[in-house]
Amino acid sequence: MKPIKHIAVTGAAGQIGYSLVFRIANGDMLGHDQPVSLRLLDVPAAQAALRGVEMELQDCAFPLLRDVVCTDDAEQAFAQVDYAILVGAQPRQKGMERRDLLAANADIFVRQGRALNAVASRTVKVLVVGNPANTNALIAMSAAPNLDPSCFSAMMRLDHNRARAMLAKRLGEPVDSLEQVVVWGNHSPTMYADYRFALVRGEPAPLRIQDEQWNREIFIPQVAQRGSAVIEARGKSSAASAASAAVDHMRDWVCGSQGRWVSMSLPSNGDYGIPEGIFFGVPVRCEDGRIERVNGLSIDTFASERLQGAVNELLEERDAIRHLLQS
Ligand code: NAD
Ligand code: LMR
Repeated sequence: MKPIKHIAVTGAAGQIGYSLVFRIANGDMLGHDQPVSLRLLDVPAAQAALRGVEMELQDCAFPLLRDVVCTDDAEQAFAQVDYAILVGAQPRQKGMERRDLLAANADIFVRQGRALNAVASRTVKVLVVGNPANTNALIAMSAAPNLDPSCFSAMMRLDHNRARAMLAKRLGEPVDSLEQVVVWGNHSPTMYADYRFALVRGEPAPLRIQDEQWNREIFIPQVAQRGSAVIEARGKSSAASAASAAVDHMRDWVCGSQGRWVSMSLPSNGDYGIPEGIFFGVPVRCEDGRIERVNGLSIDTFASERLQGAVNELLEERDAIRHLLQS
């Protein structure tokens, strides 16, 4: 039997947490042969609800679940953790954009970044889900100078999954037949869902679609605004699909993406002309716990304009929280 892996989930009493922790305990994230210990963090006022989640986890009798710790203390939650999924943050309401949450949530990621820096495993893999996810990841990474920047990522996987599902529907093909879809940039309306390189059953998807108007006026805006459409319909932000995307992101990072491209938001390194110092969604492949960026893709004028829009927005977000970043 493999040694137990320790996984922290913040905001575990919230709606994403309620879906996510059961998927992890079931083995969907790290594999059905990997025993897990869960560290559930939430604010003091949510501790009673968190105990209820713990009771339900026990009642599922998951064979892989070895231990559950509920706490409101970040250092207790993150002590020696192998993986940390930072969900705990306010969600937006109808009429808000995700960056409107910056002021409300930024401080959480300073405190949790410091706690990770102090006590997490030195090879911890961190996924930031709480919005605005890209800039919150930057805040957490900056507060954790003793952890390698490669420990940190933010979630673009929900956008990636939405883009694949919409393309599959348009093509009348199963989702699994589609590969090499990319969602670039910010988890915000400036994101760029890009199927220029996509393959459907191994054939170039753009040859099957050939409808630039649909691409620009329907596909790109609908992927970008899907979170708002869910809020409009449900009255609450997406939860089960967000949890499922977090499971997909971590599973591919840890267990490998089997050669497939996936979209992850990572600390920018100058590739594709994206300046350093922001978290930017890019195409990657994962193998043996490492992330390998897909480089050398052609960027035409339209793509370049879209990427620049996301860069500008992320630089603005960074300027708004610059006082929280360690220089
Ligand atoms: P929710 O309000 O249902 O749950 C949030 C939980 O976080 C609550 O239990 C709250 O008590 C807790 N929390 C608040 N501050 C905390 C802190 N300092 N430490 C630990 N826990 C804390 O919200 P939700 O629907 O689960 O969404 C959580 C976040 O995820 C929101 O910011 C939402 O916008 C974001 N989100 C991101 C994506 C994405 O693709 N990146 C998708 C969906 C939702
Ligand atoms: C989403 O994309 O569904 C989430 O980021 C929630 C939101 O605020 O849109």
